[in-house]
Amino acid sequence: MTTPAMTDAPIPPVDLVAERAQLGSALDEAVLKTLHSGTYVLGPEVAAFERDFAQAHRAKHGVAVGSGTDALILALKALGVEPGDHVVTSPFTFFASAGSIAWIGAKPVLADIDPATGLMDVDAARAACDSKTTCVLPVHIYGQLVDLKAYRKLADEKGIKLLEDAAQAHAAERDGLRAGEVGDAAAFSFYPTKNLGTAGEGGAILCNDDAVLTTLQRLRDHGSSAKYQHAMVGTNSRLHAMHAAILNVKLPYLEDWNQKRRANAKRYDELFAGSDVVRPLTVAPGSTHAYHQYGVRVSGDGARDRVLSGLHERKIFAAIHYPRPVHLQEAAASWGYGPGDFPHAEQLSNEILCLPIHPFLTPEQLERVASSVLELAS
Ligand SMILES: Cc1ncc(COP(=O)(O)O)c(C=O)c1O
Repeated sequence: MTTPAMTDAPIPPVDLVAERAQLGSALDEAVLKTLHSGTYVLGPEVAAFERDFAQAHRAKHGVAVGSGTDALILALKALGVEPGDHVVTSPFTFFASAGSIAWIGAKPVLADIDPATGLMDVDAARAACDSKTTCVLPVHIYGQLVDLKAYRKLADEKGIKLLEDAAQAHAAERDGLRAGEVGDAAAFSFYPTKNLGTAGEGGAILCNDDAVLTTLQRLRDHGSSAKYQHAMVGTNSRLHAMHAAILNVKLPYLEDWNQKRRANAKRYDELFAGSDVVRPLTVAPGSTHAYHQYGVRVSGDGARDRVLSGLHERKIFAAIHYPRPVHLQEAAASWGYGPGDFPHAEQLSNEILCLPIHPFLTPEQLERVASSVLELAS
C-alpha cells in the first residue's frame, strides 16, 4: 500500500542510484579490475567497448573519445569540414550541436524543425544548403532518429557529408536503421544521464569508412600514427579505461532499459490522450524511439511555466530541454539570425516540457506525474 510519505517522495528526472542497484557489484568489480590492471587510458576495455558499441548499431567502426562534444568536433574534422564551410543543423537542440561547428571555424546554418516531432525538417535542411555547404548535421533529438534515408539522399544529392548527432539516441531505430549505419559518422555522448552513461564524461563516433576510422584514431591522440610520430595536428581526447569498463557493464542492459522507456511513454500517451492542452510529441511511423526525453507541449500563455513550477513544488522534477533555441543564444549573435527566423523551434521552446521517463520510474510515480501535469495544466 502507498504510504503518505511515498506519495510525496521526490520523482527525479533520472535515477542513477536505482540503476546502480540493478547492476549489483558488477560496476564496482569492473572499476576495481581496471584500477588493478594499470591501463588507464584506451587499452583493452576501450577496444572491447568500441567493438561492441559499433556492433550494437551495425556500424563497422567505433572510436571512443572524451565526450559527446569531442565526438562531434573530431567527426566534423575527420569528414573534411574546413573553416569557412557551412554545416546545416537544427536550432532545437543542446547548444553543442551547433557550437561544435563554430568551434572548428565553420558556420552553423540552421534549418527549422517539424513541430510535431522536434526533428529538423529535411526539406528545410535542403533549402538551407548552398555552395559552401559541406555537411548536414541532423540531431536525433530526445532519442528519435530523423528520417535517415531522406537525409542520406539529401547528402548524396548535394555531394556533402552526413554527420548524425546521436548524443541522445543510443540503440534507437528508424525504418530498420540505427544511428551510425548510413551516416558518414554518428556522434554519441555517454554523459551520466544519457540512456547509456558513464560515471563522468565520455563519447564515441561510429563510422563505416576505414580512412575515417584512421583519421579519428589519430585526431583523438595528437595525430599520432605511431609513438611520437605525428601525421596531423590533433588533440587529446582518449576515453579512460574505467569509463569504458563501466560502459561495458551497462551496454548489455541498454535494449531492456530503452524498452522500459518505451513502455513508460506508451502509458503517458494513454493518460494524455484526452487532453487538448497537454500534447505529447509524435513518433514517426517506423520509428523505435529511445525516449531519452519524453516531451509534451503545454499550450496556452505561460501555461508550460506554470505547470513546471507546480510540478517542482510537488517535487516532480520535470525539465525544459531546451528553453531557448540555438539562434537566440548570446553565443550565436554573430551567426546572422534573430527572433522569428525559426518559428517552429521558437514555439516548441516555449511549450515543451520533458517528464521523467527513465527505466526505473514506477507505475505509481508515472501516474502521479501525469495526473499532476493534467491538473496543473487545466
Ligand atoms: C544533442 C546533443 N549533442 C551533443 C551533446 C554533447 O555531449 P557531451 O555533453 O557528452 O559533450 C549533448 C549532450 O547533452 C546533446 O544532448
